[in-house]
Amino acid sequence: MKKLIIALSLTSALAAAHAGAATVTIDCGAGTAYDLCKAGVNRWAKKTGNTVKFFESPNSSNDHLGIIQQQLAARSSDIDVYLLDIIWPGLLSGQLVDLKGKVPESELNQHFKGILDANVVNGKLVAIPWYTDAGLLYYRTDLLKKYGFSGAPKTWAELALMAKKIQDGEQKTNKTFVGFVFQGKNYEGLTCDALEWIVSFGGGTIVDTTGKVTVNNPRAAEALDTAASWVRSISPAGIATYSEEEARGDFQAGNAAFMRNWPYAYALGQDQASKVKGKIGVAALPAGPSGKPAAALGGWNLGVNGYSKNQAMAIDLIRYLTGPQEQKIRAIEGAYNPTIQSLYKDQAVLKANPFFGSLYNVFTSAVARPSGPTKGKYNQVSQAFSTAVSSVLNGQSNGQAAVARLSTDLARIKGRGW
Ligand code: GLC
Repeated sequence: MKKLIIALSLTSALAAAHAGAATVTIDCGAGTAYDLCKAGVNRWAKKTGNTVKFFESPNSSNDHLGIIQQQLAARSSDIDVYLLDIIWPGLLSGQLVDLKGKVPESELNQHFKGILDANVVNGKLVAIPWYTDAGLLYYRTDLLKKYGFSGAPKTWAELALMAKKIQDGEQKTNKTFVGFVFQGKNYEGLTCDALEWIVSFGGGTIVDTTGKVTVNNPRAAEALDTAASWVRSISPAGIATYSEEEARGDFQAGNAAFMRNWPYAYALGQDQASKVKGKIGVAALPAGPSGKPAAALGGWNLGVNGYSKNQAMAIDLIRYLTGPQEQKIRAIEGAYNPTIQSLYKDQAVLKANPFFGSLYNVFTSAVARPSGPTKGKYNQVSQAFSTAVSSVLNGQSNGQAAVARLSTDLARIKGRGW
C-alpha cells in the first residue's frame, strides 16, 4: 500500500515535470533540505537560462532508495540528477553516469579525498560530494547549568546519569520532558546510531574493511544492552518510532535534554521559531568504556541517471551545486557540512556554525558504515543489523543473542562473497 502511494505521488510529480521542453529534473530530497536545494538549483537556472523541475523524495533514506531503484529498474529518464546517500554507490553504480573526465580534476581535488573516494566504484566516479554528515551530541546549555553540570558528558554512563537527573527535575513541571532522544526506529538511521554505540565500545564496524563479519563480540553486545537500558529510563517508550525528525521535534520544542542528530538540526534549532534558540550545545558523542567516541559518517552526493537524456546539462548543474559558492550558502543557511576542505576556514561559515571548527576532527574521523566491503549487498546487511538492534531495544532479545543471530544472518547474506 505504502509503495503504491509513493509510486502514485511520483507519477503526478513527474507528469508536472514533463510539462516543459528540454528541462533538467533533480531529486532535491525532502523537507527543509528540499527548500534549500530548490533555491540553489534556481540560482543555476537563472545563471544559465535553463529550465528546472524538482522531485521531492521521501524523508527516509530507505524509502528514497526504493524509489530510485524502481526508477532505474524501469530505465526511466524522468529524473536526471539523483541525490545519493553516501552508502549507495555500490548499490547503484551500474546505472549512473561515470563522471570521471567529465568534471575537471581541479574541482574534484577541492573535496575531502575520503568522501570523493567513497563515490568511486571499480574506478567509476558515480557522484560528486555535496555535503557530509557526522553524528553529534546536542545538549541544552541552560539545563546543564541549572542542574550543576559543567559540560557535555564524556561517556555514555555520564550521559545516562545527567539525563536522568535533568529529566527527573524537569518532569515536575513538564510531563513530556525526556532525557535523551535518538533514532530508535528500525531503518537506516538506527544503523548509524547503533554503529556509533558499538564502535565507541570497541566492538568494531559490523563487517570489517576486508569483508569479514565481526559483529559477534562481547563489546558489541554490551553496547546494545546499554542502549536498551535507556529505553523508558531516559528515553521515551516511543523511541522505537523515532527517526531524525521526531528527535528534532522533541529537542526543538524544549522537551529533551540531549539529542543524537546530524548537523542540519543545528540551523533549525537556532531558528527564530525554535524554543531552544541560543541554548544549544554541540559536542562529540560520548565514549564507551574503551574511552573512544565515534560518529557515523553520513552525507549526500549528486549523480547523473545513466538513462538521462540531458546528461551534459545535468553535469553542469551538479558542478554548480557542489562548488564552493553553493556549499558555502548551504553551510551558512542550513548547517550542511561542506565537503570542500577550504570552507572549514571560512569565517562566515564558522560564525554560523562554531562547531564546524571545534569539532573538525569529528567530521574528518567519522566512521563509515560497511557499504564499501559489502557492495551490492549493503542494504540487506544494514536491514539485518537494524532489525537485530531493534529487537534488543524493544526487549525481545539481549545483546549477546542478537549479535550471535545477526552474525549467522550476515554469513547467509554474504554467501560465497559480497
Ligand atoms: C543522514 C545521513 C545519511 C544516512 C541517513 C540515515 O541523512 O547523511 O548518510 O543514511 O541520515 O537516516
